[in-house]
Amino acid sequence: MSYFTETNSVETVNARMGAQTDPRLAEIMSSLVKHLHGFAKDVSLTQEEWDFAIGFLTRTGQMCSGERQEFILLSDVLGFSMLVDAINNRRPEGATENTVFGPFHVADAPIRQMGDSINLDGKGESCLFEGRVLDLDGHPIEGASVDVWSDNADGYYDVQQPDIQPKWNNRGRFITAADGHYSFVGIKPVSYPIPDDGPVGKMLGQLGRHPYRPAHMHYLITAPGYQKLVTHTFVGGDEYLESDAVFGVKTTLIAPYEKVDNGETLWRSPFDFVLVPR
Ligand code: BEZ
Ligand code: FE
Repeated sequence: MSYFTETNSVETVNARMGAQTDPRLAEIMSSLVKHLHGFAKDVSLTQEEWDFAIGFLTRTGQMCSGERQEFILLSDVLGFSMLVDAINNRRPEGATENTVFGPFHVADAPIRQMGDSINLDGKGESCLFEGRVLDLDGHPIEGASVDVWSDNADGYYDVQQPDIQPKWNNRGRFITAADGHYSFVGIKPVSYPIPDDGPVGKMLGQLGRHPYRPAHMHYLITAPGYQKLVTHTFVGGDEYLESDAVFGVKTTLIAPYEKVDNGETLWRSPFDFVLVPR
């Protein structure tokens, strides 16, 4: 047994772990201690800097409530949410890629009829979203739930403005028939800042980073026998595509937006989703 020193810090802390510790917990904690100590040594962390970090983490926790999850935002802006997502959703060629879930999904949105509008506040440029839910062989998937949500034309989700927007504005679920087809009318989404009035927003400012996400439509697609797909389609040409505050953009998720102005909608955005068997 040796007492703690700067040199043996990792081994000394990890040696304390009990023999009965769950093996996965032991693996995770010993790696965490190794990398955390390595980080402090790498930057020769000062006491003042560590005190500041403790204060930052405390403020981050204090910012959390039923409606606000500042730790997830922190994970998002550090690219950690996207990294964990990538590790856990390695997909075969041809399958639609995952991206960050975000904090604005609401479970049990109304099930709507194909072609219905989800734009309840009437703001924004109308857009027909349509395509198919397919398997890896290109066959349509019947009974897939296509759960969609987007911000409104002012850049806010309904849950951010419960006193201003109608409930379920720009949200809905659509269930595919045998042809795998889905369609709904929404708005051409607009770019918006992630909530930046807390410690994470302040950190972004200090790092010279903006809080904006490029315009996107969210999708959560589930079907019996298939892996869950959590993704977005992005609006091509958006000024924030290459600097998304949460690193969610993937080339394959940039969707076409065709100007149709056919008297019914101003835009049309076709996109097929390809699911992987479970
Ligand atoms: C979103 O796209 O809704 C989102 C994702 C991550 C952080 C904040 C918002
Ligand atoms: Fe979003």
